[in-house]
Amino acid sequence: MDMKKLAGDKAAEYVKDGMVVGLGTGSTAYHMVNAVGEMVKNGLKIQAIPTSKATEAQARELGIPLLTIDELDHVDLAIDGVDEIDPQFNAIKGGGGALYREKVVASMAKEVIWIMDESKLVDKIGAFHLPVEIAQYGSKQAMERMAAYGWNPVLRVRDGKTFVTDNGNFIADLHLGAGFDIQDVYSKLTGMLGVLEHGLFLNMCKRMIVGHSNGEVQVIE
Ligand code: A5P
Repeated sequence: MDMKKLAGDKAAEYVKDGMVVGLGTGSTAYHMVNAVGEMVKNGLKIQAIPTSKATEAQARELGIPLLTIDELDHVDLAIDGVDEIDPQFNAIKGGGGALYREKVVASMAKEVIWIMDESKLVDKIGAFHLPVEIAQYGSKQAMERMAAYGWNPVLRVRDGKTFVTDNGNFIADLHLGAGFDIQDVYSKLTGMLGVLEHGLFLNMCKRMIVGHSNGEVQVIE
């Protein structure tokens, strides 16, 4: 049973004719985008804004009509994955490095749905690393600033090279541990020199859709 597909397919049911839809990024959102693509083939009329180059390519391939961020004046519904979320709807996102575009799109949306498999639901977030997008110039100093708070930042590396986001920046992954002081880290990161954006998405969604290993799909509102 593919728990991510269960959640992705269920979320696509919330997409209706005439909507502007934010398409998330990652292995769960992938299934939702496929399902939306199928609906478009069957006559659904929507416009969509992708949250990464990967999702843009997938949506284009499926024939989903796309808008650029500069053409966008509103988003009706954004659907995206999460890395961890607690019962207060505090989420960590950005495991795939798309957190900046994901936050821009989600913050514009009238409604946000986070989709996930059951492993993402936790009592306290922080066992998963917190991704922070930082400018390349001055990244060493930005890392030092975060290290000084005891956040254990690690510069993200993929295939032996420093990972570069769709926006041309680096990612620092903070190892905070479950139960860290969310508000304290949020306020210190917000406005920190060199930080473009971080992966704390606090209480932004209206509902979560969770795929379970027994085949059930849970909608939490
Ligand atoms: C992308 O940067 C992330 O925010 C993803 O949405 C998140 O990492 C969830 O990804 P998966 O659905 O692949 O676990």
